[in-house]
Amino acid sequence: MRIGLLTGGGDCPGLNAVIRAAVRTGVADGHTFTGFRYGWAGVLADNAVELTIESTGGILTRGGTILGTSRTNPYSNDADGTALVRATLERRAVQALIAIGGEDTLGVAQRLHEGGVPVVGVPKTIDNDLGGTDVTFGFQTAVQIVTDAIDRIHTTAESHNRVMIVEVMGRHAGWIATHAGIAGGADAILVPERPFDIDELCAQLRRRHERGRLFSIVVVAEGATAREGSALAAGGGPVARVAATDAFGHARLGGIGVLLEHEIESRTGFESRVTILGHVQRGGTPVAFDRVLATRLGVAALRAIAAGRSGVMVGLHGNAISEVSLVEALAEPRLLDPELYETAELFFG
Ligand code: F6P
Repeated sequence: MRIGLLTGGGDCPGLNAVIRAAVRTGVADGHTFTGFRYGWAGVLADNAVELTIESTGGILTRGGTILGTSRTNPYSNDADGTALVRATLERRAVQALIAIGGEDTLGVAQRLHEGGVPVVGVPKTIDNDLGGTDVTFGFQTAVQIVTDAIDRIHTTAESHNRVMIVEVMGRHAGWIATHAGIAGGADAILVPERPFDIDELCAQLRRRHERGRLFSIVVVAEGATAREGSALAAGGGPVARVAATDAFGHARLGGIGVLLEHEIESRTGFESRVTILGHVQRGGTPVAFDRVLATRLGVAALRAIAAGRSGVMVGLHGNAISEVSLVEALAEPRLLDPELYETAELFFG
């Protein structure tokens, strides 16, 4: 079988480990691989490379994706994405696709499946907010990067008696903020699932100062919003950095931390500083957990596609890798477990 492979959406540590695992397992079983460059853009433009054992050697530990990625949507502007994709696959005699991506890439995969193109999905996002899997690869790496950053910020916060605001990724869900916040000992964590009240946050920081703790760490997810009816509710995040949205209609977020720096300092009088970690969280080598998970998912995706299955996504459920339908995986984003946030809250203030 000739199998197509692509990575779409934001990159994520572990993508190369998936590619390597699928190709290594598949070649051993007699399959051949076409890697499309830059996600769906490479399929539309027929930009592809042959993937072999040799060309995928030595990439297990590498961050990013050797195939490149983009946020291209084949169905943009009412295009018949299925026909466009099918044309390239036929030209290259590609019989089935493995699409590695998040909600947008996998949404395209589902439409292709409905149109009769055999496709299996592999879930990817550092945000960890995809349904149909207990966890996505890349998330642990991002949590470790943020935790290391908080540890460093801690010492400078303490030296200067400052409120340090650490803005992290997390468009719909506060998984990174909450995990890294717990691991780094944050004094407050603001997440999209729990709109915040700036007055309550400032009161919490003041109480902490009254107890003699003269510095604080506030972790905020980029998608956090002010609670309706509270101060800042109009314009209280998430902050869109540019007016334009991407091909899937998503705003470019970032900057809620800057607003908080200003509001906290002006309301409490405590000197405040923001650090926006941004794409640092997505870069570099994956931690061991993500390498293992990505490898298992790559092998499972290969087995699923080689067995003729389509419209499914492989995911981690408990300790086992199993398949769910793409429809089920994409039905709802996987939001923060309330119990986890309540654990984090025990250590606030
Ligand atoms: O992959 C998800 C994500 O990391 C979001 O948390 C973030 O909003 C977005 O990607 C940023 O994407 P880009 O790389 O296009 O700026």
